[in-house]
Amino acid sequence: MLVLGIESSCDECSFAVVENGRKIISHVIATQIEDHKPYNGVVPEIASRRHVEMITPVYRQTMELAAEQGVKPSDIQGIGVTTHPGLSGSLVVGLNYAKALSYAWNVPYVGVNHILAHLYAPQLEQEIPYPYLGLLVSGGHTMITLVKGYQDIQVLGASIDDACGEAFDKVAKHYGLGYPGGKLIDDLAMQGNDRAFAFPFANLHKGGHRYDVSYSGLKNAVINQLDTFWDGKSEKSVENICASFQRVAITSLLKKLYRAVEDTGITTIVAGGGVAANSYLRKSLEEHPDYQVYFPGMELCTDNGAMIAGIAYHYLKEGNVSGLDAGVSPRVKG
Ligand code: KG4
Ligand code: ZN
Repeated sequence: MLVLGIESSCDECSFAVVENGRKIISHVIATQIEDHKPYNGVVPEIASRRHVEMITPVYRQTMELAAEQGVKPSDIQGIGVTTHPGLSGSLVVGLNYAKALSYAWNVPYVGVNHILAHLYAPQLEQEIPYPYLGLLVSGGHTMITLVKGYQDIQVLGASIDDACGEAFDKVAKHYGLGYPGGKLIDDLAMQGNDRAFAFPFANLHKGGHRYDVSYSGLKNAVINQLDTFWDGKSEKSVENICASFQRVAITSLLKKLYRAVEDTGITTIVAGGGVAANSYLRKSLEEHPDYQVYFPGMELCTDNGAMIAGIAYHYLKEGNVSGLDAGVSPRVKG
């Protein structure tokens, strides 16, 4: 079954044609980073307007690439589209496109959960047996999950305040490094001493926070209380600040993930979301000889249409379809 996937939940406009939930026939991701750069973050109103402008060219390009692989629009048997969570004004652009194509082509469409799609993404590269622990870290989400099936996911822990990528972006903004900040901090951190500042680890253990993380205290320490945590001798360079921040940001996440491994006995870990590109995170996880760690390629880590088409295939195969009256939601639960 050939499925067209549509993703427009934030600042990426993406389409893909995927066969049987695994084989990517064509895939186009158009990012709006340049539009949001002047504001150091995604501006919802700009995002939705840009989606309106971009969606048809991105769709056409995806279908042109599919045509090169011998796939015509009439070969598409179903459509998947992100309906939640995300920015409502952006989601609605993708959803209406899906409804229009579904009506015009007379094929079913299904609205899918963006989080479940991220955790499905590595399955597009290779078959990973369930269950696994899913680590989803992006500009909007920070979650440790127990993944038992494509739609059977238990959230074990999450950030109680800022998302991990958001903390990277806010620190980068404060130090005037640019946007998005994650990659810029990651690169600068490579030249820094990660012990120059002993930034604080959030102490969340009790009261149901066994797997939760928090980034607001760390972010505040890096931005407003630099001297408090300085070792008194290292240079107060941006490289040292980035390296020290990154070590605490990623280690606090890994501590909770390792706790989940211990508690569940599950040693297969699948990472997703933009922060999964972080070199410190990758190196730390890959150093574990007893863990099977899967990092999807960058194109599948970030927001993309292929993961939407991939997971939608499973819903459509089971006859799980959406109606023309379906809506969008900013919430994880839809
Ligand atoms: O998944 P994504 O592309 O978009 C959403 O947030 O949905 O993730 C973007 C986030 C940004 O916050 C960006 O700063 C962060 O991922 N990021 C990184 C790295 N590359 C991207 N964070 C840390 N290290 C990186 N190498
Ligand atoms: Zn995402």
